[in-house]
Amino acid sequence: MDKFVIQGGAKLQGNVRISGAKNGSLALIPATLLAPGTYRLTNTPNLRDVWTMSRLMGSLGAFCELNGNELFVDTRNITSFEAPYEHVKKMRASFYVLGPLTARYGLAKVSLPGGCAWGPRPVDLHLKGLEKLGAEISLEQGYVVSRAEKLKGAKFHFDISSVGATGNVLMAAVLAKGTSILTNSAIEPEITALARMLVKMGAKIDGIGTSILEIEGVDDLKPVDEETIPDRIEAATFLIAAAMTNGKIEIEKVNPYHLTSVIAKLEEAGCIIDVNGDKITLEMEGKPIATDIITQIYPGIPTDIQAQWTALMLTAEGNSKVVDTIYSDRFKHVPELARLGADIDIVDNSAIIQGGRKLSGATVMSSDLRASASLILAALVAEGTTEVLRIYHLDRGYEELDKKLIALGANIKRVKTDII
Ligand code: EPZ
Repeated sequence: MDKFVIQGGAKLQGNVRISGAKNGSLALIPATLLAPGTYRLTNTPNLRDVWTMSRLMGSLGAFCELNGNELFVDTRNITSFEAPYEHVKKMRASFYVLGPLTARYGLAKVSLPGGCAWGPRPVDLHLKGLEKLGAEISLEQGYVVSRAEKLKGAKFHFDISSVGATGNVLMAAVLAKGTSILTNSAIEPEITALARMLVKMGAKIDGIGTSILEIEGVDDLKPVDEETIPDRIEAATFLIAAAMTNGKIEIEKVNPYHLTSVIAKLEEAGCIIDVNGDKITLEMEGKPIATDIITQIYPGIPTDIQAQWTALMLTAEGNSKVVDTIYSDRFKHVPELARLGADIDIVDNSAIIQGGRKLSGATVMSSDLRASASLILAALVAEGTTEVLRIYHLDRGYEELDKKLIALGANIKRVKTDII
């Protein structure tokens, strides 16, 4: 087990290259199941969830090898159609193999993902969508079993805009016989990027980037090479870190169009931001202005930055409110932030933050990926030493976050520990 030992007080300054998107990569890798062949997925982030997905693909018979940030995938020898609980319990995104396996091989057996640190994470929309395409879905000893002679195109409406369900149903529809129309589809950049890769593979998809996807099924697809889009959540995390520490940083290899709502809120909070191609510079002097956020589906403020924004608002002058409309109880970071001196009330799906209080170092515990990021950000401004435990949560979704922060001037040490 690793922990971070962080001395607060440094201003972050310098340049940092943003990695490929974890959630982008986790959608592209299962898509390789749709066409047996070899793929080079470049700008793949070297982080734990990609390793987990690669191991899951290996258990299906695929060969995955990550060289730096290039993931080589060979799906010419798929021998199993079962995603075992040991993989799915570690990472909900394992559920993404359900659609492609059903579409390509007519059979998939995927463990139900179960809950996560912040409550139940249903998959009903994934299953309803596949059933609409003609899959026979049964639940057997905690596994979803999906069977289909040949999927058939259909109209399907997502009752809730769901990133994962859109990805799964889209990957199934591209090999279905006939036309599918998916309405209220997620338009997150990671889904748009998945659709673009599928088109490169030979799929016929209209409406990419909109919530209405029209798919003309094809008989076969071909393997391709593809570059993973930049990680907009990592980018937002660094911008927030710079704002909190009154620093000045330039983040590079980003897509500013994926960050319009985050940039707008940071400017509202008093940050000076300059966008130049694939680079964004942020400078912040003094305390941020207390600024409320309400998370929304894309292109609104992503739920994946609400914990980090909460940390930023601890340094603001005045009180602010963070509302999460996507998940109702994604606030496991709040009691840990309180150990640093934060005063935050949780009312329903909102955090009411008292800004301007002094933060002092303490030992805190990560509970999930973005909560751990929030604790690290708060530790950067807390007086004295903070120890952040269970860093394996962070390592799931950030590539070398500690090394990147140290390069910007942060005082962080990664230390082995027996304390779990
Ligand atoms: C993706 O999860 C991301 N993960 C999450 O990022 C992100 O928080 C989430 O989208 C929302 O943007 C990956 O892309 C691997 P959803 P996903 O289906 O697909 C409900 C991170 O920190 N829902 O869009 O699981 C669900 O309960 C992770 O990087 C159903 O009700 O999220 C939630 O309230 C955490 N039924 C809402 O939809 C379903 O069948 C949105 O969930 C599916 C979802």
